Amino acid sequence: MCRSVCLLALLVVVSPTAEALDNGLALKPTMGWLHWERFMCNIDCDKDPNNCISERLYMQMADVMVKEGWKEAGYEYVCIDDCWPSHQRDAQGRLQADPKRFPGGIKKLADYVHSKGLKLGIYADVGKNTCAGYPGSLGYYETDAQTFADWNVDLLKFDGCYMDWTLVGEGYVNMSKALNKTGSSILYSCEWPLYVWQFKKPNYTAIRETCNHWRNFADVYDSWSSVKSILDWTASHQDDIVPAAGPGGWNDPDMLVIGNFGLSHAQQESQMALWAIMAAPLLMSNDLRDICPRSKELLQNKHIIAISQDPLGKQGYRTAKVDNFEVWERTLSKNRLAIAVLNQQEIGGPRGFVLRAAPGWKICNPQCNVTQILPQYKELGVQTPQTKLVVSVNPSGTTLLTVTPISSDITGHKLYWRGAAVKRKHNTSL
Ligand code: GLA
Repeated sequence: MCRSVCLLALLVVVSPTAEALDNGLALKPTMGWLHWERFMCNIDCDKDPNNCISERLYMQMADVMVKEGWKEAGYEYVCIDDCWPSHQRDAQGRLQADPKRFPGGIKKLADYVHSKGLKLGIYADVGKNTCAGYPGSLGYYETDAQTFADWNVDLLKFDGCYMDWTLVGEGYVNMSKALNKTGSSILYSCEWPLYVWQFKKPNYTAIRETCNHWRNFADVYDSWSSVKSILDWTASHQDDIVPAAGPGGWNDPDMLVIGNFGLSHAQQESQMALWAIMAAPLLMSNDLRDICPRSKELLQNKHIIAISQDPLGKQGYRTAKVDNFEVWERTLSKNRLAIAVLNQQEIGGPRGFVLRAAPGWKICNPQCNVTQILPQYKELGVQTPQTKLVVSVNPSGTTLLTVTPISSDITGHKLYWRGAAVKRKHNTSL
């Protein structure tokens, strides 16, 4: 029996409200690897040479990225986070890498990463210190931007610790200008809104003009409660943040923690599916040298990556919340649509969810093709406005679908989607 709850999800196509940072970068959400969540500030290379923050870690990650299909799948940036520098600047006031852990220096590391056809990211902070207490860039924006350019670094993650929040915006803008002045292509990853939200609503027009992506919310942890809190925050602020996203500038819900310890496989599928729906940067923080085959397959799933990297560059919305299910939808290029159904019920087995076209819904009129991508790839075939499509969704898992219109004369993107939970357990698709 279908529940009589009706969802009416209306997706209006909105163009990003502001011009993106005009550096030609991040036209699609950035893909790569970033050390923080997995390796944090482990600087003890005597006790833990394999996992400490050292040039060796990034070189090994770059090697694996090429050998194990990551680069081919689209993961491009190998990114250093906090704890890389020496506690002292050099005699010229420049940042320098810790000499014990980075004996070759950052330039040589960048050369190595480039020789593999990959790009190198680095980390600094808008304030007096980094969050882990290393030297910040306050008072040194031009010097540091030039240093990173001299080292041929390709991305800067710029954190917001140890800074008066009223000056955070100005600091981010000044660093953006300093990077631009170097003439080098350096993707600029900010945490500006995260440091402003606790005081007031950030100015997303200015943020989009300044940064290639921006963190809005707390750091991701290796747990389902953390991933859930990020999804909840995003959905409850979607009217503010989604219109700001588009080619050149993206909301950043933080790293993918897939392949670590804290998420079940279904939860990993949820993170991957929803990060694709959110048009989020796909920056993995895991140990690519030792990752289970299922997590690897999920992270390299070309159908999900295609949703993430869709050229239209529109971030999706949560369009319904009913009976412990959430429906998220992302408009794709060529009038296609991605739909993620997340089962938030953490007791029991897989639950069925009915999807059907609501009145006025054009994408399946007269017909559309539906493909299930997660949890297993399945062609669900041709559907019509009369179809009731029942999908099975694992507990804390996500069923991810794409819908492709068959008729060629779809105009406008007024999309309605109506869904309801089914009480009985369903494993069939129709
Ligand atoms: C902050 C950032 C994290 C990470 C740490 C490093 O917490 O949000 O992503 O960069 O600092 O200290």
